Amino acid sequence: MATKGELLYEGKAKRLYHTTEAGLYWMEFKDDATAFDGAKKAVIPGKGYYNAQISAFLFELLSKKGIPSHFIAMVGEREMLVQAGEIIPVEVVVRNLAAGSMAKRLGLAEGTALKRPVTELYYKSDALHDPLVNEDHVAVLDLATAEEVAEMKEQALRVNGILSRFLERAGIVLVDFKLEFARSRGRVLLSDEISPDTCRFWDAQTGDRLDKDRFRRDLGGLTEAYNEVLRRLQRVAVE
Ligand code: TMP
Ligand code: ASP
Repeated sequence: MATKGELLYEGKAKRLYHTTEAGLYWMEFKDDATAFDGAKKAVIPGKGYYNAQISAFLFELLSKKGIPSHFIAMVGEREMLVQAGEIIPVEVVVRNLAAGSMAKRLGLAEGTALKRPVTELYYKSDALHDPLVNEDHVAVLDLATAEEVAEMKEQALRVNGILSRFLERAGIVLVDFKLEFARSRGRVLLSDEISPDTCRFWDAQTGDRLDKDRFRRDLGGLTEAYNEVLRRLQRVAVE
């Protein structure tokens, strides 16, 4: 059994550690919440726990449906063992409804249904505030190969189909989400987290925000919303 080693990297919401086994990392979810590139900050007790539990749940669901990820096992309430890899500095966003930055950029009302899912690429760079990029930008900046981009987009759209259908049964609309991938053992591997911090989840009945927009927009009740998401996922799982 791998045990936690030296700190490798500390991000805004997680810490990544080496382990006693080469090829395995230890990922710890923090209670820190940031938005707008760290301009807004808070500590929200319990957030790390919910994000870890929800991510583990969704990674397991995806694995059963044929999409592998870096997730191996939970090793604590908010800690997981993951496959080591080198993160590709391109964030892939998939959108089903216009919201957030897309609604603003294109002058669409939040909640406008899109006639097909939209994928977007962002350059993962805090210094540049994660700018929106296209495939030419990714190529000239050498962020990823064309094959890797095609693979990431294809996997992201498959993830969208699987998660949208599952969440619908939990009474949740998957509005949009962000994925990150790593190069691991010669392939592109779904990594990072899939949680209410990185997705927009709307209650199908009421339209209530069950995600990090509660923090970004000062709506309050963040841990209650994250707890509700976890509870609903677990309920659907046993149906
Ligand atoms: P956006 O509308 O702000 O571009 O966000 C699109 C989706 O990506 C949304 O589900 C939240 C997620 N996201 C992150 O996970 N990290 C980020 O830094 C940003 C800006 C968005
Ligand atoms: N994660 C980003 C930040 O910390 C932005 C966001 O999620 O809104 O600033």
